[in-house]
Amino acid sequence: MSTYTRRSLIKAFALGGAVAAVGPMASLASAQAMQRPMPTGKLSANFVIHNDQPWALETLRSAFGVAPITPQSAFFVRNNLPTPDESIVANRDAWSIEVEGAQRSGSITLEQLKALPVHIEAAVLQCSGNGRAYFPHKPSGSQWATGAAACALWTGVKVSDVIEHFGGPNDGKLYVTATGAETLPEGVDPAQVVVERSIAIDKGLQDCLLVWEMNGAPLPLVHGGPVRMLVPGYFGVNNVKWVKKLALTEEETGASIQVSSYRFRDIGESGSPVHPSMYRMPVKSWLNGPGADGISVIPGANTLHGVAFSGERGIAKVEVSADNGQSWHEAQLVGPDLGPNAWRSFVFPVELTLGKRRFVSRATDREGDIQPRDAIPNHRGYGHNGWNDPALEIDVVAQLNAVAGAGAAASAASVATGAQAAGSTIALSPLAAQGRELFMGKAQPNCTVCHTLADAGSVGAIGPNLNTLQPTVEQVFAAVNQGVGAMPAYGAQLSEPELRALAAYVAEAT
Ligand code: HEC
Repeated sequence: MSTYTRRSLIKAFALGGAVAAVGPMASLASAQAMQRPMPTGKLSANFVIHNDQPWALETLRSAFGVAPITPQSAFFVRNNLPTPDESIVANRDAWSIEVEGAQRSGSITLEQLKALPVHIEAAVLQCSGNGRAYFPHKPSGSQWATGAAACALWTGVKVSDVIEHFGGPNDGKLYVTATGAETLPEGVDPAQVVVERSIAIDKGLQDCLLVWEMNGAPLPLVHGGPVRMLVPGYFGVNNVKWVKKLALTEEETGASIQVSSYRFRDIGESGSPVHPSMYRMPVKSWLNGPGADGISVIPGANTLHGVAFSGERGIAKVEVSADNGQSWHEAQLVGPDLGPNAWRSFVFPVELTLGKRRFVSRATDREGDIQPRDAIPNHRGYGHNGWNDPALEIDVVAQLNAVAGAGAAASAASVATGAQAAGSTIALSPLAAQGRELFMGKAQPNCTVCHTLADAGSVGAIGPNLNTLQPTVEQVFAAVNQGVGAMPAYGAQLSEPELRALAAYVAEAT
């Protein structure tokens, strides 16, 4: 491990501004060369790149506008598996979805979907792990702050109309289950990795859509085009991308993304169906600017802006505090109200004086739920909606420094990923050398199946690129021991010394 990991560098830029000319910049040049090109339509200056394979792109706070729609160029990306091949959007209208669990089974193409009644819904998509970076117990997974959320206009047809097209629901069906068309890696149990989610049938038939347009343009491939599910007001994972099958089922799917992942549980517990699934998004808000990402601001009159939402409910009011929540002042909701599943923009006029200024916002939804000060700690760091952690900290300075600000943050973010130079020459400790063997083969399935690691010569497409992630020994140990997401728990098959060896290897090799 180098003293400055790339991730902490991005953080330093994203949070602190001009910490520019330090040594590691030189080594970042080679990282830049290794970076995969951004998905079509994405501007790298708008993102923190947590991972490139599969994509995990967080929208920088300073990249959010005041208006309530997020453009495609700045819309976050969180994919569980690699993006399917471009060829699937070559002829969008021919995309075909299998339908099961209705009076008749069959398939329907996008062209045929377009003949059903059309609906447009404004909705926020938010990753369950948005805000994970704020939890003190440092949960595994991408360290999202505020930017794994965005709001768009989605065009599609109701799931209920699709089911009616096939004669209406069969008796006894309790769930709508959607399956994505991601390519599954060989050597792994499909149920462990397939992206298949179930939601209660009432929700599914009431307001869920199959959508093919985002903000008036064909749904981009990286966001699930040609067709994805839209489950308005629910966390992102339910909004299955690249839908190839839509089924009414009697039970929830047995896929691990439903059974054990995306379950809200106490720290240290493994997820299972006794724990609540990540469905409706609770009330939440935060301020986006000015002054986010270390961009300095000069004294005087200014306008704070932010966003607020609550799944299925809409926002009643937002308040802002300049004294850490001792006193609150109502903010002004601005722009169109796009419905109960969209986010609402708000503004708050301020007079900024020299120094560090800290502001927080707190939303109340239309059912009276108020955003809490602190989020509920939970194992995977899901559902963060506390108002204190994402405070907007503004550096108010007499004169703007040309080096600081968006430019610096953006250029750091855009070079922030990629593998290190091929590492076969790394001198490993004896423990790590033993770990390397486990990594390459003795662990089953072995780690190379899913992870990219230059020293191991592996290009895995499911788990994070370990060269980019640069995990600590403790992080690797915890993840391998307990399993995370689609990754199995190796604690059952490997001894503690073996787990230690693996952890030593991954840490030394990155
Ligand atoms: C079936 C695919 C798969 C295999 C095999 C696998 N992993 Fe993973 N791994 C993943 C996925 C997916 C994640 C990310 C989970 C998430 O963030 O939801 C992950 C995450 C990780 C992380 C990051 C944890 C964190 O704190 O963010 C580490 C470290 C890791 N794996 C190491 C290993 C090692 C070492 C092995 C071999 C013993 C291994 N993995 C085998 C899929 C796999």
